[in-house]
Amino acid sequence: MRGLARVLSKMGVASRTEATELVASGRVSVNGRVTRDPGAAIDQGSDQIELDGRPVTGAAPVYLAMHKPAGVLTTAHDPEGRPTVYGLLPRGIPSWIFPVGRLDGPTSGLLLFTNDSVAGQALTDPDVGVPKTYEVKLKGELTQADVEALQKGVRLEDGTLTRPAQCRTMPSKEGTTWIELTIREGKNRQVRRMGRAIGHKVVRLTRTRVGPVELGGLEVGKCRMLTAAEVRAIRALARGK
Ligand code: URA
Repeated sequence: MRGLARVLSKMGVASRTEATELVASGRVSVNGRVTRDPGAAIDQGSDQIELDGRPVTGAAPVYLAMHKPAGVLTTAHDPEGRPTVYGLLPRGIPSWIFPVGRLDGPTSGLLLFTNDSVAGQALTDPDVGVPKTYEVKLKGELTQADVEALQKGVRLEDGTLTRPAQCRTMPSKEGTTWIELTIREGKNRQVRRMGRAIGHKVVRLTRTRVGPVELGGLEVGKCRMLTAAEVRAIRALARGK
């Protein structure tokens, strides 16, 4: 048995907060009776849930890739009115979807969206360790020892140690270094903090890959649906969890 709002969000109908509001406002009935209790116990095998008088059968799963521009926030609402990723979603998305993890405001690149909460959780779970690849421009010239430190794991300012990562240098102009860095965890602002840990400020950051999905030639600010093969690969990750 699970609470009603939780069941609605697991079915991809709305976020947990939105589902709580839907229930509290009397738009949801269970077995023909309006219930305003978001925590009402639901047996998904037998209880009939309706929203606005229509049966809730679970929204079709949606998986989307966005090329997030720098300067756009990964949040639903910004109190200061700055642009958010939701403003870039195509019209006609059939249901509520959420970003899988987040990218900082100044970071650009691949951001996935889905309403499949199991897949979303697997993609961000550090125990699953889905690789995420970034192209990173750092101030100054990195030594071989810096690269090896990033590969082995560096101590962040809060004392935590990052897990082993893949790192290779790319052609760079004097005074800066470009690297391609693949990490299997997603601590807050991790790549920027890893740069700081080796004494090199990250001045540009773009995510180019998340697990089986590549940014490829997707234009800045645009979205595309994932291919069937990408969706299969993501579901396999979630099953292997
Ligand atoms: N690491 C960061 O520092 N920022 C991001 O947005 C993603 C990874």
